[in-house]
Parts: sequence; C-alpha cells; structure tokens
Amino acid sequence: LITPVILAGGIGSRLWPLSRQAMPKQFLPLLNENTSLLQSTLARVSNELFDNAILVCNEQHRFIAAEQAESSIPTALLLEPKGKNTAPAIALAAHYALQNGITGPLLVMPADHHIKNFDVLTAKLPEAVKLAAQGKLVTFSITPTEPHTGYGYIKQGAAIAGTGCYDVAQFKEKPDLDTANRYLAQGGYSWNSGMFLFTSAAYLKELERFAPKIATSVAAAAQFTKDLGFTRPSNSALEHCPSDSIDYAILERSNNVVVMPVDLKWSDVGSFSSLDALTKKDENGNSLNANYMAQKSTNNLVINEAEHTIATLGVSNLAIIHTHDATLIANQNELDSLPLLLKKIATTQ
Ligand code: GDD
Ligand code: MG
Repeated sequence: LITPVILAGGIGSRLWPLSRQAMPKQFLPLLNENTSLLQSTLARVSNELFDNAILVCNEQHRFIAAEQAESSIPTALLLEPKGKNTAPAIALAAHYALQNGITGPLLVMPADHHIKNFDVLTAKLPEAVKLAAQGKLVTFSITPTEPHTGYGYIKQGAAIAGTGCYDVAQFKEKPDLDTANRYLAQGGYSWNSGMFLFTSAAYLKELERFAPKIATSVAAAAQFTKDLGFTRPSNSALEHCPSDSIDYAILERSNNVVVMPVDLKWSDVGSFSSLDALTKKDENGNSLNANYMAQKSTNNLVINEAEHTIATLGVSNLAIIHTHDATLIANQNELDSLPLLLKKIATTQ
C-alpha cells in the first residue's frame, strides 16, 4: 500500500483576500460549494490502493484540518509550529512514517490542486512503485501549455525501459519568463506536477546529501508527541531549521530523480489567473455571478462573497475580489505583485 502525504501548510498569499493566514486556500471550497481543496485531495486517495494518510500542516490550522479530514480515510495530523517549506515538511512525514513501521512508498501531494482525472495517475502507480523500491525519487510531470513561471520545468532524459519513466536531464524550479519561453520553444520540457513518490529512506538519504542542515534539524525534531489526535514534533529543534522547498533543495541537484509523464487535467489553484481559468464566464469573458452586472466590460474576474451588488462599466481585465472585510481591485496583468501588496497591508495594520 502507498501512504499519502498531504502538504497543507501554505498560506496562499496570491489569492488574497479569499485566502487568509487564518483560513488558507486549501481549506476553502474554492471550486465546489461543499468541498475544500484539501477534502478533494483526501477523496482522491480514499481507496484500496492507499494506506492511512499523513497530513502536514500548521499548528494554527489544526482544528479546521481535523474537521475536514474527519470524513475521509484515517489521517495522522502532523503539526508544524512554523512553516519551513516543503523539504522539511516532507522530512517530518518521512520520519513519522518510519517510526510507525511504514517503510513503503509515500505519495506526496499538495493540498491545493484541482485534478479532473486522477485515475490516469493511479493507473501508472504500480510502475512508479517499482522504481521507488529501487530508491528512486519519482516525480510526475505534465505537458506545459504556457510559459508559466510558477512551476518547475523538467527536461526528459533517456527512457527507463519498461517503466513509462525517464531520467531527468535537467530540473529547473520557477525559471524566469525568458527561460520558460526558451524551454517551450526548444521542446522536451514538462511541468513538475508537485506530486512525488518515494520511500522515506530514499528521500531522507537525498536530503542528508543535499540539505544536511535541514536533515539534521528535522531528525532532531522527530521526537513526536501525541495529544488529542494531533502529532507534534519537537518545536525547539525545528526553530533553526532552514526553509527550502524540495524542488530547490533536492530535485534541482539530485541525479536519483526520475520522471513519469502523466496526462492529467490538472491545475495548481495558486493564483487568480488559474482560478479564473476554472470559473464560468459570460459571452464577454466576465465571471458569471448572481451579484455581478457588466456593461461594456470584458474579461473581468469577479468573485463576490458578500450580499453586495458589483457592477462594472467600461472596464476590462480586472480582478475584483470582494469579501466581508476586504476588497481587492486589481489589473489582472499585475497580479504577480499581489504578495508585495499583501506585505504592505500587513505592516500597516
Ligand atoms: N506542511 C507544509 N509546510 N506545507 C507546505 C509548506 C510548509 O511549510 N509550504 C508549502 N506547503 C504546501 C502548500 O500548501 C502546497 O500544498 C504544497 O506544499 C506546495 O507548495 P507551493 O508553495 O504551492 O509550491 P508551488 O506551487 O510554488 O511549487 C511546487 O508545485 C508546483 C506545481 O503546483 C513545486 O513543486 C513546483 O516545481 C511545481 O511545478
Ligand atoms: Mg502550489
């Protein structure tokens, strides 16, 4: 059986004011009235292929995480005092797994993906499991459709006979726009999906090699205590752990990584532009929304969480995000700078 490891410790700052520190995007029903992104993620692995799940999230969100995980497969909740990005979060899960006698493969998944045909990936898992058993780190990749700078890019190397997998010739996390354009023009590159399959032992070995400070801190922090169904590492040991993502810390450096292309209808619901691509539109490209009226307006993304009428006249390409206590009005072309605006708001409040 495969153990799902779900990473749910991000803040979602590129979706402010929908996503807040107190209630990040993965806990919100962003695309579906009743199901949060986290619940959809748990539902994907609630079948006979998978063992109980390990969810890693922030201490601050423990009750909402517990509530949302309740109706799915049994889930261990690992709580971080402070997010240190994905490399340490996965390491905590790996130690926890080993301490609980789980030596088989972990399927690491972000909690904020929208996936229409996960069965395409599950059908290929048996091959990936074989490679994981040989100590490989398997990443799943997706055909790119645009020069998106928020993703990792993988250049496929030689095919590994009989596995549907390839060596990784190059891994580049979040290239700049020129580089991403060049990759697409050259061909042979795919997007890193952010989902990975490997054994705890193989992951920790690569971590020790390429990010020894993270490896040492997390090993010291892996003295878990249980309380009311929550599992906590030793917080003091984690305090000085460097922050880094698995992509920068390991995938860009290790030559033990292999890639399995999967034909997923997938999107990382990471920003308003990806949310925009998933929402229903009128004939002028404006959001269809009961409390929004448009005249001479085109391509406006309007999300309205209040009982409040929004009307636009003669404007295009705006993002208007209205919540009970904050409204964002933005030029859609400027949304990459939203985290900077958010910093300003945080320092003035
Ligand atoms: N527990 C925990 N702790 N989870 C975290 C932390 C942390 O400190 N930081 C991030 N996460 C969670 C997020 O909530 C998300 O579910 C997942 O880890 C991935 O983090 P993101 O911050 O969303 O990563 P990204 O989207 O910028 O980049 C990654 O995913 C892309 C595809 O969506 C990379 O793997 C890219 O290479 C990849 O293309
Ligand atoms: Mg993401």
